[in-house]
Amino acid sequence: AIPLILDCDPGHDDAMALLLAVADPAVDLLAVTTVAGNQTVEKCTVNARRVLSLAGAVDVPVARGAARPLARPLRIADDVHGVTGLDGPRFEGEPAVPESPLTAHELLLEVLREHDGPVTIVATGALTNVARLLSDRPDLSGRIDQIVWMGGSTERGNVTPYAEANAFVDPEAADQVLRSGLPFTMCGLNVTHQALVTDDVLAAFARIGTPLAEICVEWMTFFASTYRQLWGFDAPPLHDPVAVARVIDPSSVRCVEANVVVETAGRWTAGATAVDLHGYTGRPANAQVAMELDRAAFWARLIAAVTALS
Ligand code: BDR
Ligand code: CA
Repeated sequence: AIPLILDCDPGHDDAMALLLAVADPAVDLLAVTTVAGNQTVEKCTVNARRVLSLAGAVDVPVARGAARPLARPLRIADDVHGVTGLDGPRFEGEPAVPESPLTAHELLLEVLREHDGPVTIVATGALTNVARLLSDRPDLSGRIDQIVWMGGSTERGNVTPYAEANAFVDPEAADQVLRSGLPFTMCGLNVTHQALVTDDVLAAFARIGTPLAEICVEWMTFFASTYRQLWGFDAPPLHDPVAVARVIDPSSVRCVEANVVVETAGRWTAGATAVDLHGYTGRPANAQVAMELDRAAFWARLIAAVTALS
């Protein structure tokens, strides 16, 4: 199995990405690190612990990462994910999975140093933790097999006309990671908007018929309600599992090579990802850019994951 660290800000779609990473036999989830984004890092960390507890993944360490972006104030997405960051079903008490005594930074260093062989990092939030890791310890970059990110867009944005949320929260971090030269894949809105939780998808989760599947249905139903209210979507896009799916089954997320730069200075466009799909700039490709999702394969993997955990 492919050794994986998931850096996330759960978040409804992050929660589903966590379940996929825990359950799918193609990957081996070594650690989970959290970052501020959808909510404060405190809330996102509790949510990550909650999701892993529900999945019975009691041995996966969870460490708290950056409380704010590298150079900007934090902007949370409570309009999308609610006051807890994972609104919907209510939970009593502390999650069984504890918070690691290590910081996310320390845990990342430990896993990269100690795992035998390079590790894949999937990031489904702002790239703050990853940028810090690369700038503090460039010597460990050989220990990273690839970075696969849910963020950016080849098209328009979802928090400003041109910026996607994970890019918008910390454009400086995204810029640094893209400049690192490490193998990088961007799963942006243009592909994650192909992962719509339509009624038939929701019905398939409901048919699993387990308490965990019921919780997934409640999460996706909450997410659907905010997407409907805010943007008039008939079905919400389940962004983050697409990045995990790209690692699990690369052929299910078709990519093209392109140059990607992140706008950090734009007056109206901070956090925009300028993806040079047509080679206008002559700048060399620095990323695999996800273009097309095999929907059937994607939902089958996610449904199998939730089924296996029940
Ligand atoms: C991204 O922003 C967050 O709200 C989601 O969890 C996802 O990672 C989509 O723009
Ligand atoms: Ca996320």
